[in-house]
Amino acid sequence: ATADDAAAPQVLLAQPRGFCAGVVRAVEIVERALELHGAPVYVFHEIVHNGHVVADLRARGAVFVDTLGEVPSGAVTVFSAHGVALAVERDAMARGLRVIDATCPLVGKVHLQAQRYVRQGHALVVIGHAGHEEVVGTMGRVDAEVHLVSRPEDVAALRFVSGPPVAYVTQTTLSVDDTRDIIQALKARFPQIVGPDLDDICYATQNRQNAVRALARQVDLLLIVGSANSSNAQRLREVAEQQGVAAYLVPDETGVDPSWLDGVQQVGVSAGASTPEVLVQRVARRLSALGAGDVRQLPGVEESVAFRLPLAVLRPAA
Ligand code: F3S
Repeated sequence: ATADDAAAPQVLLAQPRGFCAGVVRAVEIVERALELHGAPVYVFHEIVHNGHVVADLRARGAVFVDTLGEVPSGAVTVFSAHGVALAVERDAMARGLRVIDATCPLVGKVHLQAQRYVRQGHALVVIGHAGHEEVVGTMGRVDAEVHLVSRPEDVAALRFVSGPPVAYVTQTTLSVDDTRDIIQALKARFPQIVGPDLDDICYATQNRQNAVRALARQVDLLLIVGSANSSNAQRLREVAEQQGVAAYLVPDETGVDPSWLDGVQQVGVSAGASTPEVLVQRVARRLSALGAGDVRQLPGVEESVAFRLPLAVLRPAA
């Protein structure tokens, strides 16, 4: 397709976008484990929810498994950034696996908080999406009564055996706005409920959602680069849509449908926390090839968060 210069849509990149500190750390843990121990290194679940990252690490010798039964006894095994249930930790120990934990420290913080509430005698509500690995992990951190709430409507159906008192924690990658509605519904039904308010939603999720909300006001089409199973990428697409902008999730440049650009003057692009920047650049190049003009990055929050690597990948293999 060609477009004359006057009609060429401008491309605006959100800032911040893409990799968060937890993803940088998790990917580096697998890379270092491969260097230290050699292939294969087993990884329990996708290390982060991005098909390109997983395929790249697989090509370098990582073996992704969904059950520990697939891992040979004694093998080096990395737990993904999403965290795992206590039962998985116990199972890994029983199998003699050499575990390296890539759970994001901010997910770990939610785990500790959930355990603290339970120790204090609360029944626990986890706000999150059913079946998401982080939610399965967080619910499995406590040996106590725990319920999942995904929508405000779920609150009315809650029945506690051991509570009240009741406490809640949340998944780290939720929509700030949707979560606020759920917390309001919980407070209306359980006025004494305690919880972190929106603080469990991590800095990276909040910053990316704010940047997309601001970007959505300036564009008539918004593309989020990310995999379909990435919770935070899906939420970015919803945030854009809630602002009234046509928004699509694309895994990479091949997902861009040229007809989306018809009549569009400004295209926004952002990326989920597990999406490598190279994919954003590939999408921007494809938009240029389809006739888009300038690519500009909007000003935004500069992130300086970095997490320390676990000792297990800092010292040479014994
Ligand atoms: Fe951690 Fe938030 Fe990223 S919880 S893995 S920093 S999206």
